[in-house]
Amino acid sequence: MAGLFDDTGVLIAYGALTLPRPGEPSRADLLDLPADQRSLVAYLASAMVRADWQQHGLHHALVEWRLVLAGALGRRHAVSAVWPGNHQSWGHLLAHGLRGKKMARVEKDLIRLVVHRDLAAPPPLPDPLSLRLIPLALLPDQTALFDEGYWLWRRLRRPDHILAEFARPRPQEG
Ligand SMILES: CC(C)(COP(=O)(O)OP(=O)(O)OC[C@H]1O[C@@H](n2cnc3c(N)ncnc32)[C@H](O)[C@@H]1OP(=O)(O)O)[C@@H](O)C(=O)NCCC(=O)NCCS
Repeated sequence: MAGLFDDTGVLIAYGALTLPRPGEPSRADLLDLPADQRSLVAYLASAMVRADWQQHGLHHALVEWRLVLAGALGRRHAVSAVWPGNHQSWGHLLAHGLRGKKMARVEKDLIRLVVHRDLAAPPPLPDPLSLRLIPLALLPDQTALFDEGYWLWRRLRRPDHILAEFARPRPQEG
């Protein structure tokens, strides 16, 4: 866990990274990771920035710090699970190369967007011919789109609404 403090020593932000032990359940179980790589998960568990310190780039810094740490620890699969309405959170994770791979009901009234990045693989690219834009309010309903092989790549801000940009990944060469 990284904590950020102001110059009087008061905590203003934190970001947590958890490292599931082999066989320990995590939201990464919702993804189809290769069986021999399931122990290589780093889970971006939670982050928070105090309201008066928001919009200074601290969350972006905490996402990047956790990805660098995951890579340095050999945990190639960075995973997080986010409430789909929290576009600030998932929008930032996507900006750091994670991609929305699944919409899952994890408890009766709890739906989560599962995002993932393989830090050891070349960055996948979207197939532009498959582009789909979905309004934020409809994002929780997109289970079928994910099941059809679409990923969530970007948050697009419009003057009065937010769009989620979906596309299929281009087949990797080689
Ligand atoms: C979601 C949350 C963590 C975002 O924190 P934040 O520190 O305000 O986020 P950042 O400052 O990194 O990014 C906000 C914007 O400020 C911009 N910004 C402003 N000044 C900046 C600077 N000096 N350097 C970099 N970015 C800057 C960023 O580009 C970013 O724009 P974007 O959203 O278009 O990418 C914060 O709102 C929060 O704590 N929310 C409640 C808890 C929560 O939802 N946590 C996440 C789920 S666990």
